[in-house]
Amino acid sequence: MEMFRHLLSALLCGFALILVVHAQDDQSGFISLDCGLPTNSSYSEPTTGLNYISDAAFISTGVSKSIAPQYKATHQQQAAYVRSFPQGVKNCYRVNITQGTKYLIRASFVYGNYDGLNELPKFDLLFGANSWDSVAFVDASSSTIKELVHVPTLDYIHVCLVNKGTGTPFISALELRPLKNTTYVTPTGSLELFLRLDVGLTSNQSYRYDYDALDRSWVPYTYNKWTQLTTSLTVDAQIHNDYQVPSIAMRTASTPINASASMDFSWESPDTSTEYYVYLHFAELQQLKANQSRTFNITLNGDYWFGPFVPEYLSTITVFSPSSLTGGNYSFSLVQTENSTLPPILNAMEIYSLIDLSQPETDGDDVAAIINIKSTYGVDKDWQGDPCTPQGYMWEGLNCSYSGSPRIVSLDLSSSGLTGEITSYISNLAMLQSLDLSNNSLTGSVPEFLSKLPNLKVLNLERNKLNGSVPADLIQRSTSGSLSLSVGENEDLCASISCKKEEEKKKNIVIPIIASIGGFSILVVAAVAVFMGLKRGRKQGVPQQPNNQIDSFESKKRQFTYSDVLRITNNFQTKVLGRGGFGKVYHGYVDDTQVAVKMLSPTSGQGYQQFQAEVKLLIRVHHRNLTSLVGYCNEGTNMALIYEFMANGDLESHLRGEDSNANVLTWEGRLQIATDAAQGFEYLHYCCKPPIIHKM
Ligand SMILES: *[C@@H]1O[C@H](CO)[C@@H](O)[C@H](O)[C@H]1NC(C)=O
Ligand SMILES: *[C@@H]1O[C@H](CO)[C@@H](O)[C@H](O)[C@H]1NC(C)=O
Ligand SMILES: *[C@@H]1O[C@H](CO)[C@@H](O)[C@H](O)[C@H]1NC(C)=O
Ligand SMILES: *[C@@H]1O[C@H](CO)[C@@H](O)[C@H](O)[C@H]1NC(C)=O
Ligand SMILES: *[C@@H]1O[C@H](CO)[C@@H](O)[C@H](O)[C@H]1NC(C)=O
Ligand SMILES: *[C@@H]1O[C@H](CO)[C@@H](O)[C@H](O)[C@H]1NC(C)=O
Ligand SMILES: *[C@@H]1O[C@H](CO)[C@@H](O)[C@H](O)[C@H]1NC(C)=O
Ligand SMILES: *[C@@H]1O[C@H](CO)[C@@H](O)[C@H](O)[C@H]1NC(C)=O
Ligand SMILES: *[C@@H]1O[C@H](CO)[C@@H](O)[C@H](O)[C@H]1NC(C)=O
Ligand SMILES: *[C@@H]1O[C@H](CO)[C@@H](O)[C@H](O)[C@H]1NC(C)=O
Ligand SMILES: *[C@@H]1O[C@H](CO)[C@@H](O)[C@H](O)[C@H]1NC(C)=O
Ligand SMILES: *[C@@H]1O[C@H](CO)[C@@H](O)[C@H](O)[C@H]1NC(C)=O
Repeated sequence: MEMFRHLLSALLCGFALILVVHAQDDQSGFISLDCGLPTNSSYSEPTTGLNYISDAAFISTGVSKSIAPQYKATHQQQAAYVRSFPQGVKNCYRVNITQGTKYLIRASFVYGNYDGLNELPKFDLLFGANSWDSVAFVDASSSTIKELVHVPTLDYIHVCLVNKGTGTPFISALELRPLKNTTYVTPTGSLELFLRLDVGLTSNQSYRYDYDALDRSWVPYTYNKWTQLTTSLTVDAQIHNDYQVPSIAMRTASTPINASASMDFSWESPDTSTEYYVYLHFAELQQLKANQSRTFNITLNGDYWFGPFVPEYLSTITVFSPSSLTGGNYSFSLVQTENSTLPPILNAMEIYSLIDLSQPETDGDDVAAIINIKSTYGVDKDWQGDPCTPQGYMWEGLNCSYSGSPRIVSLDLSSSGLTGEITSYISNLAMLQSLDLSNNSLTGSVPEFLSKLPNLKVLNLERNKLNGSVPADLIQRSTSGSLSLSVGENEDLCASISCKKEEEKKKNIVIPIIASIGGFSILVVAAVAVFMGLKRGRKQGVPQQPNNQIDSFESKKRQFTYSDVLRITNNFQTKVLGRGGFGKVYHGYVDDTQVAVKMLSPTSGQGYQQFQAEVKLLIRVHHRNLTSLVGYCNEGTNMALIYEFMANGDLESHLRGEDSNANVLTWEGRLQIATDAAQGFEYLHYCCKPPIIHKM
């Protein structure tokens, strides 16, 4: 395997110095990032004329470092700085590209003892959701180059460096060059460079841009059984070959010293599964006489592969296999045919291995949404590269599904110091099942759009500064058990179906379950809610008889102690249902019956007298269509009214048919409601002494 070692050693001396400065060619479409170059800096590299810019706009992490001075002289300028990543496991570049274009994508690394540790690191390289390669070094001065030929499917690419615990990742340069889409075509997959050789070049100099308009780097290669053929003429003066192999690489070729011997080269792959693509570039460099001919066949592992083949004078013909080579041992021979007078030649060659970069990145809408969420809140997390991929490297706080294009299904931003309102970008995470925003300082209301997330099963908004009311749909889903909803310990948040009413009472004919209490205006007319309870209770087969319920409440109507109130409301840790002029209303249980506990705040304007008057009045109210008072508490400054709790949703949404789960009310049902409500009013106005006038 002498040849194999030959090829390998040729590979390692890439990135060598090019001395000749040429006039600038067209760099359109090139992206040349000098990693670690100070922010906003740029320069034209003296040996290639390539225009490098700082990578700072393409990555938010990492630190800029310089390689040791003794290593700078033997490298091009872009090796002088590196960006190193002492923080985080995965650090990613995001580079905008032209979608659908075939690119040569090259990452270069020169260690140059930039950290003064003199320890060669080893780390991994990712391309989007896919593993690219591992990066290792032979010494501090050599460069390691990783190159892909790939058509990105999105309008950006992610290149990530992954710390494997074997040294700090760093990078010297990241370069992208557009290629013709007719070149390097494979039936499946993308290509990773194995070798690119300028065969027959005896100097130790690699050529790249602007010798090569596509900025491939051609590494010189000779072999002791071969001799050199050269021409001073230009090969391909007119470009006719899409591979555009540079003239400088084609101008030198090798041919066997023994003119009757074949020309052999081979390599061995560590495994049999790696698939290779080989591109052999030929051009005749001699003007052949009439009685001369150069014809040869190409064999692979002794089997016919291509031929008979006659190179064209000063014109490149690229010979490649349209399908991949497998097997582990690859032994090529260029064999002269019987009536050929000249031995075979080879001018340049490229070998690529197939790489599968088809694993998709996270769904584009989800990516856009999460990036907007990140910037809206200034999320201080190590969120880089693709949110969900590769599996195992997803962003902290996310969970994803991986059937097809990865989707974000869970977002945990609890205890993340978030301020401001709940951003509507969250609603763009269409597959979200779990959202945890607890323990932040979020303000404003709980937005309606959260109820538009069809798969939401867990919503935790605890310990924020939210106010207003929780959207009815969320409450209904929570009541029906399809959503785990946590909204406790907020500023002033009502998680009751009735709050909406309270907010909108000015414009709606809505009868609050818990009326605001002020002066003489009272209560209560939840006739309809009771009615609905009856209807739905029957429908669902729940043994819930409003009349019996009221009767049983009636019998229990009584004075509660403050410690009773604490027990009922679990020390006021239960849901806050609303807030009125007198104080907060808590949810609670008396035995197994749900109640609403209205606490009279000592600071409220309402005095003890009024409280007494109210209790007296309310105690007397007893009608099957009215919410009844379960009891009250009157211990010093601790005053509370305890009402029956209406759990079956609010009247308005039933009347409007907003609750898609419920049956639309029939006309008869609506008439019944109106009659029942009227009876409730009649009772208050005429049957109570003194009459009770309620406020709407
Ligand atoms: C880079 O340039 C941008 C826009 O010109 C400017 O806002 C920014 O401050 C510059 N950054 C540095 C570090 O010079
Ligand atoms: C990349 O494109 C996105 C939108 O397509 C844009 O917001 C962003 O600024 C671009 N990034 C750079 C570095 O140009
Ligand atoms: C190359 O791109 C052209 C358009 O730019 C398109 O029409 C053609 O189908 C592409 N060919 C291949 C092999 O992708
Ligand atoms: C390149 O070859 C020249 C002699 O041809 C030698 O002096 C020089 O050291 C070599 N450079 C490298 C980097 O190997
Ligand atoms: C040249 O190659 C031929 C064919 O392989 C072989 O028979 C012959 O011995 C070789 N000559 C020398 C001088 O090596
Ligand atoms: C080819 O022709 C040239 C004269 O044009 C002659 O010198 C040479 O010997 C011939 N070579 C062969 C192999 O016939
Ligand atoms: C390749 O050939 C060598 C001998 O030349 C042999 O030892 C090795 O097993 C072969 N590898 C494969 C994968 O066939
Ligand atoms: C070259 O290939 C052709 C076509 O397959 C075949 O006829 C010929 O014998 C081959 N010659 C040699 C020297 O292998
Ligand atoms: C020998 O060469 C001639 C022309 O150079 C060609 O026509 C003929 O087919 C070749 N014969 C073989 C056996 O390759
Ligand atoms: C992500 O989801 C999977 C499957 O539902 C679950 O097993 C895993 O614990 C979740 N991981 C996190 C960090 O929530
Ligand atoms: C709430 O967040 C703060 C920091 O924002 C943190 O110190 C505290 O431990 C968190 N509490 C809980 C219960 O997670
Ligand atoms: C909620 O709080 C915000 C300030 O954080 C205030 O502007 C808004 O009026 C409040 N809304 C309600 C319904 O109390």
